[in-house]
Amino acid sequence: MKEQLNNIKDSAQKELSNIKSIQELEDIRIKFLGKKGELTSVLRGMGALSAEERPVIGQLANEVRAFLENEIENAKMELVRRERSSALEKEVIDVTIPGKRKNLGKRHPLSMVMDEIKNIFIGMGYEIAEGPEIELDYYNFEALNIPQGHPARDTQDTFYINQNMLLRTQTSPVQIRIMEKSQPPIKIICPGRVYRSDAVDATHSPIFHQVEGLVVDKGVTMGDLVGTLEVFAKSIFGENTKIRLRPHHFPFTEPSAEVDVSCWTCGGKGCRVCKNEGWIEILGAGMVHPKVLKICGIDPEVYSGFAFGLGVERTAMGRFNIDDLRHLYENDVRFLKQF
Ligand code: DAH
Repeated sequence: MKEQLNNIKDSAQKELSNIKSIQELEDIRIKFLGKKGELTSVLRGMGALSAEERPVIGQLANEVRAFLENEIENAKMELVRRERSSALEKEVIDVTIPGKRKNLGKRHPLSMVMDEIKNIFIGMGYEIAEGPEIELDYYNFEALNIPQGHPARDTQDTFYINQNMLLRTQTSPVQIRIMEKSQPPIKIICPGRVYRSDAVDATHSPIFHQVEGLVVDKGVTMGDLVGTLEVFAKSIFGENTKIRLRPHHFPFTEPSAEVDVSCWTCGGKGCRVCKNEGWIEILGAGMVHPKVLKICGIDPEVYSGFAFGLGVERTAMGRFNIDDLRHLYENDVRFLKQF
């Protein structure tokens, strides 16, 4: 029996030295120490021993069990350690390898200027309004006091979906849509895309952007318009900027004006950018025509309002000193990176 026990010890030790997984370890534990295991079956035979032999063999059996338990535990720890270090080896990061540079995108200069404009007017208490780019002739022209055959239509030729539907040529139709469904006080801006069938050159594109503004309330005057535009021009082009209103005609405002800002390059002295005029035109504006108010269900005897329409491309070109509008649409990363 003594020999049997020693054999068990030897063969268990040998098997333990070759194991590769926790599962194999568990198999060995069951094989030697389990209920039907080899050690247990030896112990079962102890009843046949003499009274002198029994304690000797019993002690030896206990020693073998303790030894095996200990060996199994050690083997387990060794396995865990090996697994962990091989995982660490696999996951090792070589911090000396050059990284991959990620090209971060940026906001487009037009979006930047658009956001600046929005922020300036939000700061003055305006809300942002929106309207459709595919517009009815009624909103784009008719309700703005530009009936069929009116010469103002010629300067804003556009793309027609059908006789009544077109790509809007201006953001002004949003004025009508807003006034139709709300009563004063109204104080909104509408930034958006507009279309005209113009050939592309340094200052023209068939798709461009405007920001429309509209304020209607009791007692709104031309003075309010001028003050508002002054705040706007100084915020976007700098504190020293001046504005100038030139009489003009728009069918939906009366009186109307074209508004210039002092040249952002020379400050008004005259240079190449302002074609030696010292001034650059950036928007159209005026007092909302009583006819337009009436069409929208607002009483012109009680309320008055001002409106303006601003070219975003032109503003961006001034803000960033861009000399050709086409740069804004060519998506050349070398250009776009500069802002
Ligand atoms: N919609 C005009 C244009 O595109 C600009 C304009 C002029 C807008 C006068 C206005 C305004 O709101 O009052 O040429």
